[in-house]
Amino acid sequence: MEKNTSHASVTTNKSVMQVLSPENCDIVILDNGRTINNFIDKKIQELDSDNEDPFYVANLDIVYEKHLRWLTNLPRVKPFYAVKCNNTPAVIQMLSALDTGFDCASKGEIQMALSLGVTPDKIIYAHTTKPRSHIKYACAHGVDLMTFDSEDELLKISQCHGKAKLVLRIGVDDSKSLLRLSSKFGARLDTVEKLLERAGELGLEVTGVSFHVGSGCTDSLTFKQAITDARHVFDLANLFGFQMKLLDIGGGFSGREDFEVKFEEFSEVINGALDKFFPPDSGVQIIAEPGRYYVESAFTLAVNVIAKRVDIDHMAEHNNSEENSSDRMMYYINDGVYGSMSCLINDPAHIDVAPYIHKAVEGSEQRYRSVIWGPTCDSTDKITDNYWIPELDVGDWLLIDNMGAYSVSLATTFNGFEKAHIYAVVTAETWHTLNLSQTYSIIHL
Ligand SMILES: Cc1ncc(COP(=O)(O)O)c(C=O)c1O
Repeated sequence: MEKNTSHASVTTNKSVMQVLSPENCDIVILDNGRTINNFIDKKIQELDSDNEDPFYVANLDIVYEKHLRWLTNLPRVKPFYAVKCNNTPAVIQMLSALDTGFDCASKGEIQMALSLGVTPDKIIYAHTTKPRSHIKYACAHGVDLMTFDSEDELLKISQCHGKAKLVLRIGVDDSKSLLRLSSKFGARLDTVEKLLERAGELGLEVTGVSFHVGSGCTDSLTFKQAITDARHVFDLANLFGFQMKLLDIGGGFSGREDFEVKFEEFSEVINGALDKFFPPDSGVQIIAEPGRYYVESAFTLAVNVIAKRVDIDHMAEHNNSEENSSDRMMYYINDGVYGSMSCLINDPAHIDVAPYIHKAVEGSEQRYRSVIWGPTCDSTDKITDNYWIPELDVGDWLLIDNMGAYSVSLATTFNGFEKAHIYAVVTAETWHTLNLSQTYSIIHL
């Protein structure tokens, strides 16, 4: 049985749909032992030359497994999933069913989370430079928890949401992360006292501290130092009379299984630092804002070879020198850096993608130097160069794993190429265990 429960799923709020939601997302339940590979095979078989558009398969079981791993390793830390990382409604609903909170960066993301049934108390508006109108929207919809790192932000918040619960974001060492954030956000420690004083003058409630070590963090000790710094800010804030109740340790955890530092190693360091500086009897609630961790490995992208050109090195032909030949196969696929793979130009934590052939034919050992291009009329739209693969034909399909982070949410329709359709797939076992018919029926069909 294949059940399309949410084909029209994101019609609850049209303005959200236009801005944020991937237009097309189906939920597919895998039963009778069908696997995700069976699903991909079937989908590819069904598609023909009238519809060879790229598509994602989002494995919701992986999101679930990631959550169980989180609970095992960081039992004191409640995850608030960073919506910006991948705003697929089915993912947000799954995480909501698992009782995570959500980190929203704008009115649009708050709107989307609320429209999918998330309650305002489960949202942190985790952006330190907010437009006034977005703060007012948060206020009107009961979203009280929000971050700040400057006096001007305090002033704005006091005018637009005087009852907000404020979380002071501090800058931390992000030099060991693939994508650094502290140059843009986070108060320096030597400015914290002034900020707390100003918050007091404005009659605002500072309730916690947050930091982000940068995305794709490669050194677990960075968290230890950041938690130590946060303790220092807690002590200062207590002196100013604030009731400090919340520590937010941000994101930064890779979602790839082959990443150089395992999640368990981060967890061990974080747990040690929390127990030392924020022991359970301190009464401080600990949250985090993981993005990549939950979704990166859950999404596989399927793309189609739409054109091919053999680029012959005429000089080498002339010299009869095969060895130095730079003959290359040029393939053009129907998704690229302006669509699902913008990570190749703007995400240092995801610098390469490794397409592999769907159903590679046995015995196709001969490999050719190949270039794979995206579909647009722009030469920066290149997926990979010097890639040694067997010969492909127009119409062949390639698969790319680990495509869940900062892909869907960053895609454009440049040159008129549509964004990839998303099939969110879940096993019948998980569907029943989590009683997901409740979750996905939140949406009005
Ligand atoms: C404020 C904030 N929180 C959370 C995240 C998610 O980070 P990651 O995907 O590395 O977990 C980001 C990413 O940019 C961020 O800016």
